[in-house]
Amino acid sequence: MIGRFFENLLGGRQNVFWFVFLIVTAVLAGSSFWVINFIANVDEDDSEMMAEEMMDGLSPIYVDYFSEVDEYISPEAYLAMAAYDQQFDEVQNVEVLEGLSSQEMIGYMINHVSGGLQVNCDYCHSLQNFAADEWEDEEAMANKASARIHLQLVQDLNREWLSELASLTDQKQPSGSQITCATCHYGVAQPQVWPEDQVGLPDDFRLPLEDFYSLTEEDLLNVNAREDISLDAVQYNQQVMYHMNSAMNVGCTHCHNSRYFPSWEVPAKYYAGHMLLMSQFIWAEYAESMGNQQPSCTMCHNGAVIPGGSAVSVDVMPAPLVPVPQEAGR
Ligand code: HEC
Ligand code: HEC
Ligand code: HEC
Ligand code: HEC
Repeated sequence: MIGRFFENLLGGRQNVFWFVFLIVTAVLAGSSFWVINFIANVDEDDSEMMAEEMMDGLSPIYVDYFSEVDEYISPEAYLAMAAYDQQFDEVQNVEVLEGLSSQEMIGYMINHVSGGLQVNCDYCHSLQNFAADEWEDEEAMANKASARIHLQLVQDLNREWLSELASLTDQKQPSGSQITCATCHYGVAQPQVWPEDQVGLPDDFRLPLEDFYSLTEEDLLNVNAREDISLDAVQYNQQVMYHMNSAMNVGCTHCHNSRYFPSWEVPAKYYAGHMLLMSQFIWAEYAESMGNQQPSCTMCHNGAVIPGGSAVSVDVMPAPLVPVPQEAGR
């Protein structure tokens, strides 16, 4: 409809293309609040370089992930967002992303949500009304509902779990990267959480997600010098350890002094223990929304120490999805 309208107005498809192109450029320029933030923090020389890098396809948002948004966001969707942006200054019907301006919202949706899953806006929206929760497309409605649950998930993980990394041990500070949609989705709408084949590990092996685990009352994974446990338990510990190795593409010494495995002297071990607890939390609270797939370390790490699909810092995330800043002078 809108397309036809502009076609008549501008006389032919070719012009519609340029019209859409201009709107798209305007929307992108206006809504890329993190880019502006980012550029505001570097000198002018740097910002030229930055622009070039972005043209080259390196994203300043992610640790190591890039998504070519124009390949799946349609011209109709860009027109619809321009219309929404004109009509509203603020978001209308949100449960998690409260307080965003309509431009911030569009920027976040393009780069993190559509960009993280590599889907068009109409995967979750009626292009006639982005605020609607009910319209005739039931599949898209269901996707919007799932996405809302996962916005909550992202908020929980960053606020309740990553925020604690800094105080786990004096010897290590986190990189500050944040969990976002691409951290687990990596450009796929329905991600497969467990690798099909983990070299050397049985296919049915899973992390200890149901049993009690605690960083202080160490028990679950302890095997050293214990007479009270079976060889099966020892083997299970080994499988968990090999899974960690392969998920992060590291050796045992990334987390252990290999002369004495039980000691807590390598800081990454604290992080790994905390991440196991975080995985237990995901399983306990969000299993259903993940198609009952049990979390793995590979789900996020995907062969890297810092997950490539995570956001570089809180600065490129909307405020509702990251830890609340501490009051100054506390
Ligand atoms: C995977 C699902 C998904 C995709 C894809 C998606 N969105 Fe959203 N969008 C949501 C959810 C969920 C909300 C509600 C957020 C909340 O409740 O905090 C939302 C909210 C919005 C809003 C705010 C509407 C209001 O209430 O005023 C806008 C605008 C929006 N999205 C635009 C877009 C645009 C533009 C695209 C494509 C670039 C897009 N969305 C892609 C799931 C999605
Ligand atoms: C902790 C990992 C994780 C994070 C973070 C995450 N997701 Fe998911 N998501 C999954 C898994 C796993 C599935 C299940 C896929 C399946 O059903 O096969 C899923 C399913 C979905 C679905 C349903 C897909 C379908 O077609 O049924 C939507 C929509 C979705 N996620 C949106 C999002 C959005 C938007 C974000 C970011 C705000 C996000 N997710 C963040 C792991 C995650
Ligand atoms: C990503 C970090 C990480 C990697 C890599 C890793 N581990 Fe572990 N390991 C842990 C954590 C966390 C525990 C649980 C510690 C606890 O709760 O006491 C553990 C426990 C152990 C234990 C039991 C120690 C005890 O107290 O009884 C052994 C043995 C062990 N790991 C061996 C290995 C071996 C061998 C490798 C390489 C194949 C390896 N680990 C790789 C993090 C790691
Ligand atoms: C939902 C996503 C997610 C899952 C699941 C996850 N991690 Fe992580 N992990 C992260 C993010 C993001 C960071 C980066 C934190 C930082 O440095 O700011 C991280 C960092 C780490 C680090 C510190 C890296 C370093 O600098 O040495 C270790 C160790 C680690 N994870 C181990 C694990 C293990 C083991 C598992 C499985 C039990 C796991 N993670 C599961 C997201 C995840």
